[in-house]
Amino acid sequence: MASHDSTFRTTTRFGKWLDERLPVPRLMHGQFVDFPTPRNLNYLWTFGGILTFFLMSQIVTGIVLAMHYAPTAAGAFDSVEHIRRDVNYGWLMRNLHAVGASMFFLAVYVHIARGLYYGSYKAPREILWILGVVIFLLMMATAFMGYSLPWGQMSLWGVTVITNLFSSIDSIVPGLGTRIVQWLWGGYSVSGTTLNRFFSLHYLMPFVIVGVVGLHIWALHVVGQNNPTGLEIKTASDSVPMAPYAVMKDAFGLSMFMIVFLWFAFFAPDYLGHPDNYIEANPLSTPPHIVPEWYFLPFYAILRAIPNKLMGVVAMFSSIALLVFVPWLDTSRVRSAKYRPIYKWFFWLLVISVLALGYLGSKPAEGVYIAWARVFTVYYFLHFLIIMPIVGVLETPSKLPRSIAESVLGPGGGTLKAGAVAAPERR
Ligand code: HEM
Repeated sequence: MASHDSTFRTTTRFGKWLDERLPVPRLMHGQFVDFPTPRNLNYLWTFGGILTFFLMSQIVTGIVLAMHYAPTAAGAFDSVEHIRRDVNYGWLMRNLHAVGASMFFLAVYVHIARGLYYGSYKAPREILWILGVVIFLLMMATAFMGYSLPWGQMSLWGVTVITNLFSSIDSIVPGLGTRIVQWLWGGYSVSGTTLNRFFSLHYLMPFVIVGVVGLHIWALHVVGQNNPTGLEIKTASDSVPMAPYAVMKDAFGLSMFMIVFLWFAFFAPDYLGHPDNYIEANPLSTPPHIVPEWYFLPFYAILRAIPNKLMGVVAMFSSIALLVFVPWLDTSRVRSAKYRPIYKWFFWLLVISVLALGYLGSKPAEGVYIAWARVFTVYYFLHFLIIMPIVGVLETPSKLPRSIAESVLGPGGGTLKAGAVAAPERR
């Protein structure tokens, strides 16, 4: 882990006894109190903390929901209604969990975009970034399985559409894709058997995510945080201790985000979901328009933009797998797009493309919608595979500040004696 002088002191006899045997308080103090944090972090750096909150909140509310939920085709839909109407505060747990899933994705998209903009994936943070991509994939799998649980029409048909994607393998090895799909289903169609195994995995995966998040934060604390300048911490004047500075900022950022979260949870809990999911799953009636939750729409648009089923599936999975290679696709000398006059614009074009794909994914797969989805899909891949490597080489970055401290305090700010402003109030 990044080294710094510890201010950890223990005065009680028990504290000393523990410190000599299992110094967990010393470790926590070193990593979450003393830890040197760049002094220029903006509110986008509060999203890691916000995500940690949502991971915990989803687990707690999910455990309570599971106490009353019935993972059977005959009982699932009614058990969710029972939770909403009869169980004490069941409506609250359900709303927090369902809206929480949406907020979790909103936060993760901001977190990923922050990383892309400020080049947080660049050396030495490649593993930190790749662990993030793994978390993102696990989150997607967890949310996908979770959405099947209320056993509404969209649950059933969403699972049918997405699991059926594996049948596209039939065009390479005849019969293999179908066998995989039937193995996933546990039968010849999506049924109560599928629901039961999805429930089991939906309960398990958040704990796997907790494990990978542990590695993610470990990796972060080895290399230290990036910051809006993209420069590393060089002297003590570039950093402040994590507590109280970053901790208070995180608490404020989380409080603001909570206002949005709780507004939805209390006043519009169903707004982010699809009304068809309040119709019980019916294998005999296919909804005319099957759509996933909003946070999957950009990927769904990529899937449908390609006329060939197998290639559509390949494109959809590649659009995420591609992120793993971003640290090497970006050839720029500087990290932060703040100092990259050309790349900056391409970044915003990427954001617009992803938002546009999200909109197009919610529309029927026909006519002008498909045409535009193809345009934005092409841009998405071009951005990472062509623009990122080429612009990185051709562009001349604008002048960087000499240090993080200089970017905050102006010229000369970075030349203060080491340690002088490690705690700015002592200056
Ligand atoms: C459950 C989901 C996640 C949790 C709980 C989480 C947690 C955190 C925390 C606490 C931090 C430090 C604070 C901050 O920089 O905001 C962080 C940093 C970071 N995360 Fe995540 N993260 C998650 C998902 C992701 C994903 C999906 C990616 C990318 C694909 C990612 C990439 C990064 C990077 C690159 C940093 C370093 C940022 C910097 O120092 O500039 N994370 N994460």
